[in-house]
Amino acid sequence: RPGAEEWVPDRPTLPRLREAVQACHGCELYRDATQGVMGDGDPKAPLVLLGEQPGDREDQEGEPFVGPAGKLLDRALDDAGIDPSSVFRTNVVKHFRWSGTRGKQRIHKSPARGHVQACSPWLVAELDLVRPTGVVILGGTAGKAVYGSSFKVGESRGRAIDWPESFPVAHPPDWVLPTTHPSSVLRTDDRAAAYDELVADLKVAAERL
Ligand code: URA
Ligand code: SF4
Repeated sequence: RPGAEEWVPDRPTLPRLREAVQACHGCELYRDATQGVMGDGDPKAPLVLLGEQPGDREDQEGEPFVGPAGKLLDRALDDAGIDPSSVFRTNVVKHFRWSGTRGKQRIHKSPARGHVQACSPWLVAELDLVRPTGVVILGGTAGKAVYGSSFKVGESRGRAIDWPESFPVAHPPDWVLPTTHPSSVLRTDDRAAAYDELVADLKVAAERL
């Protein structure tokens, strides 16, 4: 696999990254997606929220977290006392991976480890530009992308941990707070309890900002 490295501009800015990702062939996921979706939000945000990959809606609109999971995430941020317009939201993979359809919706398929690794230069470039104080990891795919394949959300959620040396960035955040992915809240039977747990975790992040 070539990986995304050769498509990342030498002197990146967030707008340049957004433009450049549209040409990326670092893995095969560009083929079945509408467009690449880079992170968005406050370019100097103290907090980065790190998801998995764009979903059906994000793929169409070109913006991260604009679908149902994003709506839930914004509500949870607000309930945790974090202004949703003060954060930067992004994903570990920039193209939508899907397989098959359900009605009009394409069915999300989690990216494989190889896709996540191929795509990581884009995330590194974003983190080097935004330089957040804290990173909230949303779910297992994002956690594995940063900490490796042994990461489990259930074992580390709600506690601030260190950014790992194994994932070099120019200015590592002071802390990382793993929590569940908002999509998994939407899929759970006891949605209200899962939502409250997400808000409780985000409050831990809010206290550190
Ligand atoms: N889920 C994600 O992980 N990221 C998005 O941008 C949307 C849904
Ligand atoms: Fe490039 Fe990432 Fe898209 Fe793969 S998913 S083509 S590495 S931007």
